[in-house]
Amino acid sequence: MKRNQRRQSTRKTGSFQRSQSRSKEMNSLEKLLVHELKDLYHAEKQLVKALGKLAKAATHEELKSAFEQHLEQTKNQVNRLEQAFEIMGQKASSIECKGIKGIVEEGEEILKEKADPQVLDAALIGAAQKAEHYEIAAYGTACTFAETLGQSQVKDLLGQTLSEEKETDERLTEIAESFVNAESVKGEKVAKGEPMGAEETEGSKAEESAAL
Ligand SMILES: [Fe+2]
Repeated sequence: MKRNQRRQSTRKTGSFQRSQSRSKEMNSLEKLLVHELKDLYHAEKQLVKALGKLAKAATHEELKSAFEQHLEQTKNQVNRLEQAFEIMGQKASSIECKGIKGIVEEGEEILKEKADPQVLDAALIGAAQKAEHYEIAAYGTACTFAETLGQSQVKDLLGQTLSEEKETDERLTEIAESFVNAESVKGEKVAKGEPMGAEETEGSKAEESAAL
């Protein structure tokens, strides 16, 4: 084999060799799916704790109840993952989900801030939506892996959770758009002693909704 050909063949197999050496867990799509399940299992467990804190901190009743409802859903999502592990003949276990860990840490920093209640609610929605978007991406990927592997029961379980995450994300957007963002602008104007016409409030509502 000439030197150039040798170089080419190394290049072709290089990425696979690198991924093999990174983790023995991920040398097949099935093992990669199990790896994702472990990551999500840790993510959901962290979110069970975090959602309780968000519900406690939220001031608007509808937001509080949205967090409480999603907390109950999240507990059930943990159960679904346990069922998925069982179907795949695996013991339920976690690997550290650094993505959600970082998002939760950011959320906890918000909780330490001294903020107006409406502004705090807007910040809590933003923090929760970051977690939802992470989960939507992760469950979407895991669903595709399960489908590719012909694991239809696992795919259905993950798909149910994916739908709940999407619904929660939409509900949070609706809450932000319908009152939280506008109220946080109102609060700011009152604090500054600025006038607040009806027209201006509507405009602020639209601008703020676009921002979140
Ligand atoms: Fe979740």
